[in-house]
This record gives sequence, structure tokens and C-alpha cells, in this order.
Amino acid sequence: MIEMEKLVSLAKRRGFIFPGSDIYGGLANSWDYGPLGSELKKNIKDAWWKRFVTSRDDMVGIDAALIMNPKVWEASGHLAHFTDPLTECTGCHSRFRADQIDLNAACPTCGRKGTFTELAQFNMMLKTFLGAKEDAAAVVYFRPETAQAMFADFKQVQETSRKRVPFGIAQVGKAFRNEITPGNFIFRTREFEQMEVEYFVKESEWEKHFESWLSEMKAWLDFCGVDPKHLNFHEIEDGERAHYSKRTVDIEYQYPFGLKELYGLAYRGDYDLKCHQEKSGVDLRYTDPETNEKYLPHVIEPSLGVDRTLLVVMLEAYHEEQARTAEEGETDLRVVMRFPKALAPFKIAMLPLSKKDELSVPARALAAKLRQRWTTDYDETQSIGKRYRRQDEIGTPYCVTYDFDTLNDQSVTVRDRDTMQQERVKIEALEAYLAAKLGF
Ligand code: GAP
Repeated sequence: MIEMEKLVSLAKRRGFIFPGSDIYGGLANSWDYGPLGSELKKNIKDAWWKRFVTSRDDMVGIDAALIMNPKVWEASGHLAHFTDPLTECTGCHSRFRADQIDLNAACPTCGRKGTFTELAQFNMMLKTFLGAKEDAAAVVYFRPETAQAMFADFKQVQETSRKRVPFGIAQVGKAFRNEITPGNFIFRTREFEQMEVEYFVKESEWEKHFESWLSEMKAWLDFCGVDPKHLNFHEIEDGERAHYSKRTVDIEYQYPFGLKELYGLAYRGDYDLKCHQEKSGVDLRYTDPETNEKYLPHVIEPSLGVDRTLLVVMLEAYHEEQARTAEEGETDLRVVMRFPKALAPFKIAMLPLSKKDELSVPARALAAKLRQRWTTDYDETQSIGKRYRRQDEIGTPYCVTYDFDTLNDQSVTVRDRDTMQQERVKIEALEAYLAAKLGF
């Protein structure tokens, strides 16, 4: 596994991810996704949406407001219980999550001993004011998870989509948490994105659906190029699970900074719908169209972080190897991001061998044509070896070289990122060739 420093450096150097508000000295633990990072992130979200929403008859999606009525957070228990234990060093005033450090050891920041304060419960909801008055009545919260909108909107979504249980509601979007100790690059931040499903089932069938979602999550991780050896499926034991959950599995990943959570899969019973029904006074029960039985469906919740997915996709894709040909560059080391092709920010790079109009004009025209179908980069600067090297580092599966022979034989050279094999392909057959290679 590579060191985080290498990944962070590549991410910055190539425009995947860099510190947010950098020209003002940054904002602690805030990161911006650049041109390649935003494309990679969008590809992850689009692939997830296609796989879990539009390809399935039992799923629908929503896009709810980030700021909801504060009663939602009273009902869900977030205002009372969404807390982490906080301690502060009285020597240097650094704050820590008490469950993440040894309270009998020295302060990790200043090295003093015996300086930690009594534990306080710190609520992670990010608060703001809505409207012109900054008084208590105007207090609202940025959502700490996308999930609650799926419960609050359950009745409207079920009635308008006319879905029958079992069915699921999905959402992708931002969530905010006032984390005490954000860090490890994009692993834990205060602003992040989630891809969540609330899958509504009959109570008697929850175990079957839980197993099915566990398999779906494994298949998704396989699609993302994750080596199963880097994963750990942690069954949360009785007493450690939320009181309403009969089964929860934390899907953990072996990051360079340790084995930590990537995703969660939880059986939530009918806890959420029950809480919202009680608080709102609205009957949220589902009526079975065949039996006319009215009941609150139970819920299976696969919850995925977008940023953690992207981090893991980058960690898995990163490869260093010895360059095999002189053309591969001036140094020996080749860094190649072996992204799954569907996720790669650019699918193709068009590289004319010379900047002269003779080559660049038809090469640009060919790139423009390919761009209608696939994201296509165009690069005519520096040696071909350096250009291949750059495309390897950003994970472009296919480089197309337009050379002087092309003018005579109407063929281009296609180079494969992974095998580095080169093939001469007729321009008229190029789209079909690339479609077959890319698989889309
Ligand atoms: N609705 C359930 C829920 O939100 P969670 O385990 O608190 O459960 C789900 O969060 C996922 O969201 C996590 O598995 C992780 O992928 C992501 N996530 C949570 N907090 C995060 C943070 N501070 N920064 C980045 N991703 C985070």
C-alpha cells in the first residue's frame, strides 16, 4: 500500500484534489476537487446512481434540501444524541475525541501529562440561522446525513411513485458534521458527500434483504477496483449497536493510516418512520394493496461516503513500476493510476506527434469527434514519452497518437495504459475499436 504523502502529492500535482481556499492560507481540513477530481467524483456518483437507482425497478431517487425543519433532527434523535466525547488539553487547548486517544498518556500535541479535562458530549450538528434575524427561532442545521429526508419524504415518494414494498429511496448529496478531529486527507472532513439508500421491507423479510444488500455492496466495491484483501466486514456486536438495530456491519478498509470504516450497512427496524410519525402526527404507515394491512415498513440502510470511495479508488489505482521502454520517459519509475475504465476522468488522450497545423488540425478535429462520446484530453506539448507519462498518472486508458504516417495511411496508433501495447488502427474503425475496448 502506498504512503498517503504520495497520493496527496499526486492529487495536488495533477489537479485531482487540493486544499480549499488555498490563496488565503486554506481552511483547516477543507479540500477542493479540481478538474480531474470532480470528474472522477462525478463518475463514481453516476455509476452508483445507475447501478442502484435507474437500473432497478424497486428503487427511486430524491434530491432533498440540505437544510430541513429542525423538528426532523429532534425526531431522529440527532439533536439529543449525535455527539462525540470531547476532551481538551488544559496545557495547549488542543481538542480530541476522547474515544480516539489514551487519556492516561501525554497530550499528542504538547506532550504534557495529566492535562485532559473531564469528558463533555459534543454535538456534531452544524448550526446556522435562516433569515434576517439571528435568534433562537431562526436556528437551523445543515443535515448530518442524507438519510432523514428519505424518511421524512417516505409517504409522498411512495404514493407518487406507487412503489410497493420492498422498495428503496436513494439520495446522493452533501452532509455536514462538526467533527472534533477531522483529518487523514479526505477521509474525515466536516463537509462531505454521501450515497445512501433506505430500503423499505416487511419485518419478516429483513434478514434476506440485509444479505442481498451486503452482496450488492461487495459487488460495488469490486466494480470500484477494490482488492477484497484490503476489506474487513466487521459485525457490530450486541451492546455496541444502536438500540433499534438487530444487525449492523461496518465495512472497513485497510488505509495507509490503519483499518477504518469505509461504509456501513444497518438494519434500522421501523425506528425512523416511527419517530417521524410520532413527532409529525402524520400517519406514515404503508397499506399493502393486496391484503389492505397497514404497517410501518422496516428499513435496511446501505450508507456510503462518496469521498471515502474516491480515496479508496485512488489508493487501489495507484501503481509504481519500472518503465520498460525508453519512450516511457526519462526516469525509470512509471506511476500509473489503473482506474476502472468507467471511472477514469479521461477515457482517451489525443496526442499529435507534432504541433504543426498539418497534424494538429486533423488531430483536434478527431478529438472533437471522440469527445461527443467519451471524455477526451488533447495534448501536443513536450515529448511523446512525457505525454504518455502524464496520461498514465491521471489514469487515461487509451492514448491515440496522430503522426505523419497518418496523413498517408489514415491510421492512428492506440496505446493501452495497462499493457502499454500499441496498435495501429484505421481512423474509420477507431470509434468501434475504442467502444469495444472500453466496453461502453
Ligand atoms: N445514515 C447513516 C450514516 O450517516 P455514518 O456511518 O455516520 O452513517 C455513513 O456515515 C458514511 O458516510 C460513512 O461510512 C462514511 O463513508 C461517510 N462519512 C461519515 N462521516 C464522514 C466524514 N466526517 N467525512 C467523510 N465521510 C464521512
